[in-house]
Amino acid sequence: MRRKTFLLLAVLAAGLLLVATANAQVTAQTADDPPALDMIPTPTQAEIVASKSNDMDNLILLGEKLFTLPFNKADGVGDGPYYQEFPSWMPGNRPTLQGPETLFLRVNGLDSQSCNECHSIVSHATMPPMLGIAGVGGIVQSDIILPTLIDVADSFDDRVVYMPGHVPNLDLWPDGVADYNGRFANAPFLFGGGGVELLAKEMTQDLQNLYSQALQAPAGTITQLSTHNVYFGYITTIAFFDVDLHLEGVGPMTVDPNDERAALVVAPFGRKGERFSMRDFDRGAMQFHFGLQPVEVFGTGMDPDHDGVYDEISVGQMSLLHIFSVNNSPPIQEKETLEVLHGKELFKELGCVDCHMELTTYNRLLPLSYPELAENPWSNVYKSIDLSTIGFLPDPNGNGVLVPLYSDLKRHNMGPRLMETAEHGVSVRNEEFITARLWGAADTAPYLHDGRATSLYQAIEFHGGEAQGPRDHFLGLSVGDQKYVIAFLRSLRTPMANKADILMAP
Ligand code: HEC
Ligand code: HEC
Repeated sequence: MRRKTFLLLAVLAAGLLLVATANAQVTAQTADDPPALDMIPTPTQAEIVASKSNDMDNLILLGEKLFTLPFNKADGVGDGPYYQEFPSWMPGNRPTLQGPETLFLRVNGLDSQSCNECHSIVSHATMPPMLGIAGVGGIVQSDIILPTLIDVADSFDDRVVYMPGHVPNLDLWPDGVADYNGRFANAPFLFGGGGVELLAKEMTQDLQNLYSQALQAPAGTITQLSTHNVYFGYITTIAFFDVDLHLEGVGPMTVDPNDERAALVVAPFGRKGERFSMRDFDRGAMQFHFGLQPVEVFGTGMDPDHDGVYDEISVGQMSLLHIFSVNNSPPIQEKETLEVLHGKELFKELGCVDCHMELTTYNRLLPLSYPELAENPWSNVYKSIDLSTIGFLPDPNGNGVLVPLYSDLKRHNMGPRLMETAEHGVSVRNEEFITARLWGAADTAPYLHDGRATSLYQAIEFHGGEAQGPRDHFLGLSVGDQKYVIAFLRSLRTPMANKADILMAP
């Protein structure tokens, strides 16, 4: 799998860099700023595990501080020396503006000092916009991921090797397309992430159980991969412990025949649906944005980018970040006026709900694990968060909570218009995206994975591929009916007082 190869490359290179310059560690005292992280009294993982349930607010607050803290050079921000022999897009070996000693390029990470620089708009629909913690980003807060080419001059050359499946014979003379071989992703909010993570973990558990059943079923058995009313394909049993997977909207691009379980993991985070938990996402975010390497990725006593700072982000710090992230309040539904109710009805009739679904969990407790095992979400649990205490409504018909996220947490082919042209580090097809969660949509312009839609109407208009039918039906409605659908979407608001009790305390 490409993701694994990529990781192996990164680890190998990190090891080589370490050997090359093992004696260069200096710890001279200067008048320069101390590490920003010194300002946060970080408990160790053992202390977090041992902490009492009434310490939770404090852990959330510490996590929030980590999320908003501007990291500096003494924390290890940036990559180490540049090595020509390694790929320039590889974390740890990225070129920067004007070279050595500078920190940023903005392209391919090394783009900011704090998480909140990008996740900072609670509402773009209020005047003035409401800024806050864990919100969305505008266009300038988007990520420019893994390009080696941005043809800003729209020149004649054709260095872009498009992925198979891309529109063939694309004219490569000046055509108004700045050929670009990376990804461009707009920052989503972190609200309600706990509910999303629990749903994904429950779905994964179901898929893993179905896989176990299929392994032992009689030859010829077809096992449907359905969980929480979402269909992820089926498994055919060939013989005892020999199966064929036919996956839909889940798993990496190429399934490793020796690790089929890895493909049966629902990964709801990231626009492409590549990360199975918020912590899993954060491990990458730390490296990508800041060049900070978590201990849980590289081991203890390591300086993988050779910037002189060892063990840049501890296990305890990553746990605090995770605890903060999953505790963010869920978005809310405004009062349902007649217009809104009619719009919601049309939303169903058009078939939007085939993908934009409301879901319900089986449980109320979200397990937080360390170390995390993607395929076994209930292993190594060190804390559980009761989602019914952080704004999720209990399910009147069961033991779980309602998660009105308007997504099936499944990836869909969205057609050629939305297709990306990424070449490196691709584990999900360029035309596939996870169904965007529509809760909070009123406040989160711009829309779609790269923020190309500045209005909700445009966002719908850009739908294609598997969503072509419902999109065409929407465009065929009378203007009055279209307005009802938009009114429904506009009733989905972000939590303006996100954890006000804790985060906004003086
Ligand atoms: C330069 C802007 C930027 C910074 C800084 C940033 N993010 Fe993000 N974040 C993004 C973008 C863009 C995405 C979507 C990425 C994708 O689709 O692959 C994202 C996605 C996420 C997600 C997944 C959300 C979801 O619902 O899918 C999480 C969690 C997250 N970021 C956490 C963090 C944390 C923690 C930090 C700090 C360590 C951080 N981000 C720093 C831009 C940023
Ligand atoms: C086949 C599945 C599917 C169907 C059907 C579908 N959508 Fe979507 N929708 C998606 C996906 C996937 C995205 C994210 C695309 C991207 O990131 O570029 C999305 C994004 C959106 C967004 C943008 C949200 C944001 O925050 O960026 C809106 C609004 C939306 N859909 C509304 C609708 C409406 C209204 C309908 C019915 C007319 C509909 N969708 C039908 C899959 C679907």
